[in-house]
Amino acid sequence: MRNLKRHDTSDILIHWFNAASWLVLLITGLGLIKNERLNPLGAWLPDALRALFGGGSAGGAVLLVIHEVAGVLWVLGFLAYLAVNAKGAKYFLKEIFSVRPGDLSWLIRKMGRMTVGVGGELPPQGYYNMGQKAFAQASVAGGVAIVLSGAVLLLSDKLIPATATVFVGWAVTLHYLAVGLVFAGLLVHIYMAAISPEEKPGFRSMFTGSVPEDYARHHHGLWLESLEKGDAGPK
Ligand code: HEM
Repeated sequence: MRNLKRHDTSDILIHWFNAASWLVLLITGLGLIKNERLNPLGAWLPDALRALFGGGSAGGAVLLVIHEVAGVLWVLGFLAYLAVNAKGAKYFLKEIFSVRPGDLSWLIRKMGRMTVGVGGELPPQGYYNMGQKAFAQASVAGGVAIVLSGAVLLLSDKLIPATATVFVGWAVTLHYLAVGLVFAGLLVHIYMAAISPEEKPGFRSMFTGSVPEDYARHHHGLWLESLEKGDAGPK
């Protein structure tokens, strides 16, 4: 059985760097929400993290610095990836934002099969299936919103005058909403990518870089067709 290259080493590194950054940013971000009526986890996480970093407001200040540094490193990581593999990034963006005839029907049938066990034959999919595309679109759009609103918050006490605090309020709202949107998708992404038995070869490819040909034929038939025609981007 032939193995087909699916991910470049730089794609694998940026994916796991992104996942690790999300983990740190999510935990420290939730730890910063001191108001227990707003924090989905209540008061225990902010209290525990503050205690870990020296307690009280000093602990909160350390937590904020960790969150800000992790956010800036996250952006720098993506800039480094773009410098190394701009072609791969262009291919990724082109693939996730091109929705083809049959994609919507794939999504509806797949959801039907997974929830009530009916849905019929799935139309063939390209490099990404429509579920992966929807999540990738949400993470790109959400990621841009998180970075831009995060930059406003980072600079708020230095550059933004007191008269423009309404602007900062909107940045906080956008920051929360974008994280919520990507996090909702992430729950499905982690289930589909790491737990669903059908997708195991896809999961292994996030470490090895390649998938068996029969997996590609079954899950990404249009991608295999374009590979056979010698027309499948930088992969
Ligand atoms: C434990 C955490 C995670 C696991 C196990 C995981 C697993 C995977 C796997 C196996 C793929 C490859 C799918 C393929 O090409 O066939 C993938 C792709 C991808 N991952 Fe993750 N991932 C995780 C966290 C994240 C996070 C935190 C994000 C962003 C917020 C993310 C965003 C993406 C995107 C955009 C893709 C490409 C599109 C897609 O396949 O959905 N992943 N992930």
